[in-house]
Amino acid sequence: MEIEKTLFDAHRARFSAIDRLLPEAAPAPVAGERVDAATAAGVQVTGVVQRQLHGPDDVPLLWSAADARQLFPFIGDTGTEGMDVLLRAWRTWLDAESPGEDSSCVVNWPSRDAEAIRAFLDHGLVPMSALAVRTGGAHDDAAENDVTVRRARAEDFEEVLAMAVSTHDYIGQVATRRRSNAAELLAPALEQALDKEDPLLWLAERDGMTAAFAHAAWITSSPGSAEAELLPLGRWGYVNNVVTVPGLRGSGLGRTLMAVVHKEFSADGASGTYLYYNPTNPLSSVFWHRQGYRPLWTSWEVHPASALR
Ligand SMILES: CC(C)(COP(=O)(O)OP(=O)(O)OC[C@H]1O[C@@H](n2cnc3c(N)ncnc32)[C@H](O)[C@@H]1OP(=O)(O)O)[C@@H](O)C(=O)NCCC(=O)NCCS
Repeated sequence: MEIEKTLFDAHRARFSAIDRLLPEAAPAPVAGERVDAATAAGVQVTGVVQRQLHGPDDVPLLWSAADARQLFPFIGDTGTEGMDVLLRAWRTWLDAESPGEDSSCVVNWPSRDAEAIRAFLDHGLVPMSALAVRTGGAHDDAAENDVTVRRARAEDFEEVLAMAVSTHDYIGQVATRRRSNAAELLAPALEQALDKEDPLLWLAERDGMTAAFAHAAWITSSPGSAEAELLPLGRWGYVNNVVTVPGLRGSGLGRTLMAVVHKEFSADGASGTYLYYNPTNPLSSVFWHRQGYRPLWTSWEVHPASALR
């Protein structure tokens, strides 16, 4: 979709001023529907809305509504007012639709744009998840405790699946919706990962029992790729799923496990590591910040979509 050049240039300049870690702002998506608005001074702003529908067996249901509408805003340097009028226009646009219960409105936006946050909150959006990159490493040391960390193997499948489901169940309380078929949705990717020679799956054991689990992957952000719209170019360690058994949380297991994961990624030449976490998760939001991660993009969402104000 064509965005007016002066608006797009202002958009690009704004992104690079907000956060030095953001890659150059991506052009407007090719497909989607256009929403237009103007500020009181007559400055035009615009957005593209894309709709994603997921069936009951689709993996994105682990973090997304079944019927998700995402707005890609282009507000140049109009700040709170520009985002506010655009969200207002989107609200009016939604009046003609009848989204069901399992639906959402989503805007993924640079975390540090404080002016936009005012508008997101005023329209009923909440910070549902954040993409965070590791810029510090104060706690790279393992905690002092009797823990063994090892790579998971094919025979650990049931254990690994149970741990991955328990992360999903916990997040179901504090952020995105819990899915009753989470095990079926998670199993294929875990099976595939365990099939590899050196699976990026780790188990921390205490007294021979599983105490914590981590699942990671390599992700390359190359010019023109979808990843390059979010992350600086490079070969990144992606931390996908981390959990400690409930009764053992807060005793240094997460720290010990992540010390191994970070060390292995850095030894293998990672440009850096990143992950998604939920700012409303009372445990992980503290844990990941202490581990040196900070938000780059925040996904502002309202569920169901009809609750957009
Ligand atoms: C996030 C999580 C994996 C962290 O693992 P953990 O084993 O509890 O982590 P640690 O004990 O190493 O570190 C927790 C920190 O909180 C502190 N803490 C103190 N009491 C705590 C408690 N009762 N519960 C949790 N953390 C506590 C620890 O001292 C530690 O701080 P430090 O880094 O300054 O030492 C764990 O809380 C968890 O499983 N949460 C539920 C699932 C989840 O949210 N996963 C992450 C998805 S992104």
